[in-house]
Amino acid sequence: MTAPGTATLRLQQRFAAALMPNYGMPPLALASGRGCRVIDVDGREYLDLVAGIAVSCLGHAHPAVVEAVTRQVASLSHTSNLYLHEGEIELAERLLGLLGADGRVFFTNSGTEANEAALKLVRRFHGAGRGNSGGRYVVAAEGGFHGRTMGSLALTGKAQMREPFGPFGVDVRFVPYGDPAALRAAVTSDCGAVFVEPTLGEAGVVPAPRGYLAAARDACDAVGALLVIDEIQSGIGRTGAWFAHQHEGIRPDVLTLAKGLGGGLPIGACIGLGSFGSVLGKGDHGSTFGGNPVACAAALAVLGVIERDGLLSRAIETGELLRAGIAAISHPLLAGVRGRGLWLAAVLTRDAAAPVEAACADAGFLVNAVQPDAIRLAPPLILSAAEAETFLAALPAILDEAARTCAAIDVSGVGGKSS
Ligand SMILES: Cc1ncc(COP(=O)(O)O)c(C=O)c1O
Repeated sequence: MTAPGTATLRLQQRFAAALMPNYGMPPLALASGRGCRVIDVDGREYLDLVAGIAVSCLGHAHPAVVEAVTRQVASLSHTSNLYLHEGEIELAERLLGLLGADGRVFFTNSGTEANEAALKLVRRFHGAGRGNSGGRYVVAAEGGFHGRTMGSLALTGKAQMREPFGPFGVDVRFVPYGDPAALRAAVTSDCGAVFVEPTLGEAGVVPAPRGYLAAARDACDAVGALLVIDEIQSGIGRTGAWFAHQHEGIRPDVLTLAKGLGGGLPIGACIGLGSFGSVLGKGDHGSTFGGNPVACAAALAVLGVIERDGLLSRAIETGELLRAGIAAISHPLLAGVRGRGLWLAAVLTRDAAAPVEAACADAGFLVNAVQPDAIRLAPPLILSAAEAETFLAALPAILDEAARTCAAIDVSGVGGKSS
């Protein structure tokens, strides 16, 4: 990758001295954005095909979000949970409307908190604190990702991420993702809930086979376990439906959201459908900032624009353009493409995702090396066909550049493990 500019370097040095090293050193320092473009502190411009990990669904500085947030912050930015405000009610009503279900919403500030709320709901439902431990085990998927706080981390199916921080106090049994028979076998009468992503996001945009969510629904129904669908990454239009599970025609008991919901403002939601919305009672859970007026105003603007501008169908069309365009490229580094809507992974023939990500940045495109052999594309839902085409046109030369880096690594024998 081209060496960082001087302004970036200066910020990287300050970052290293002042922030915990848990993120490593980010290669870029962003200064501003508009639409699908961002500019770094050295004035380099990029087409953003990551959207802050599937968050900035209306791109950057969208006028509707700017207007809604500005108006709200100038009026009332915080109420705490001691007082209600209309925005949280409107947003909850709107989300339930999009689900076509009755139920109740609990707002959080992030995805991991939404899953924490869901875990507590599951415990309460199975009698925790009411003469019963509520301690039925939970089933989750190998390779799944549900967050970094202790409950969500317990559910996360990546041993190297989870194991250094246990024990967690939640009994989680992991099953191979996408295998209905393994799921059915794991969901016995002692199972309290199944937590599942409709597509594994952090594992590299790996969709479940058709029918998997329905099999999970049936397995839960058979034993009285709750089906918790984690749509923190897949929700809010990313796959061309408001929620990815809607493609499968099933209904979860609990749905968790975050990321795209606020279009860049921090907000998440744990939604209990039907009677599951009333499981957590007074005093059972809370958040000082959760569902604050500014984040709710942003989320209402996001939902309004997605609907007004037909961004669900646009996600399908532009996603298909990208998918088909990548599939049509024949290159020794490229094995194929998977995913749906504007949530895709370009799958590589070897562990070359880091050099591909770097070559993309050099060519003016932000993508994400989500796995050693997979590049994630999760662009803003407003991505135009013309913007998608510029990436497709540049991709063969980007792959050539990455292949040269891989060849240099192979010769020097330093880093870059190949599969
Ligand atoms: C499916 C899924 N669940 C939960 C989370 C955690 O969300 P957050 O980082 O907002 O805590 C993520 C984040 O990537 C996610 O993709």
